[in-house]
Amino acid sequence: MRLTTRQFLQTAGLFAAGLLLAACGKKEPPPPPPAAAAPAAAPAPAPAKIYAVGVDAAYAPFESQNEKGEIVGFTIDVVNAAAAKAGIQVKFVNTPWEGIFNALGQGDRDMIASSVTITDERKQTMDFTDPYFDAVQLIAVKEGSKIAKFDDLKKAKVGVQTGTTGDEAVTKLLGKTSANIKRFESTPLALKELESGGVDAVVADNGVVIHYVANNPGGKFKMVSDKSFAPEQYGFAVKKGNTELLGKLNEGIAAIKADGTYNTIFKKYFGTEPVAAVAPAPAASK
Ligand code: ARG
Repeated sequence: MRLTTRQFLQTAGLFAAGLLLAACGKKEPPPPPPAAAAPAAAPAPAPAKIYAVGVDAAYAPFESQNEKGEIVGFTIDVVNAAAAKAGIQVKFVNTPWEGIFNALGQGDRDMIASSVTITDERKQTMDFTDPYFDAVQLIAVKEGSKIAKFDDLKKAKVGVQTGTTGDEAVTKLLGKTSANIKRFESTPLALKELESGGVDAVVADNGVVIHYVANNPGGKFKMVSDKSFAPEQYGFAVKKGNTELLGKLNEGIAAIKADGTYNTIFKKYFGTEPVAAVAPAPAASK
């Protein structure tokens, strides 16, 4: 007969108990049952998963680092609030924009929360949550610039953050091989270059441009909007096929939108309630 380790221990335990009884006669109470027969103790609960959130924290007011080095901003508040509703734990990890999607693909980050515009191209390699913010490209120039519309950039030196939707728009206008596109690793670096005259314009997400211009009055910037820029929406990105995390995030986003938490966060950073990107259709006149 073959015994499993457990059966062997039980058998050995009983055998040892028998020996003990025999040795002591009837004076002693029977020993406690062998340990192996005791009900198994409940296994310690596995520590809750902490999802690593990749953030390029050079994108105020959405995601940036404060004086203490903490990652803060609108995105962070939204993720924290949504995570709390979904009952998941997150930690934010500063991750350079360049390579941020590779970090997701390789599993070094569980999600990316970095003002990422949902695009068809990106959808090929990652999955997006429901949108949580509307954005559009905005042009920054210096006061007195003759640039008045996107098309005017054809003859200008333009700064962009590498691999952003701003980069895509400018690349489309000026051509892939244009030497007039200057690419930077962050949007603030591109805007600094505009301030120092190294480029004539910067094309980037409206929220970041507005924030930068407002906080750098000495830079003497001017902003130029253009209707030809396509509307964009930010989503959180997860690794393709990670439906579990995606579902939880969508659940969290829906919950904070439903109970007003989202609006409170929005107001904290942008001063107003969010306005619908698409205006409701006017009521038909009778
Ligand atoms: N929304 C733009 C994009 O997805 C720019 C986002 C850049 N975000 C950042 N944290 N640097 O391409």
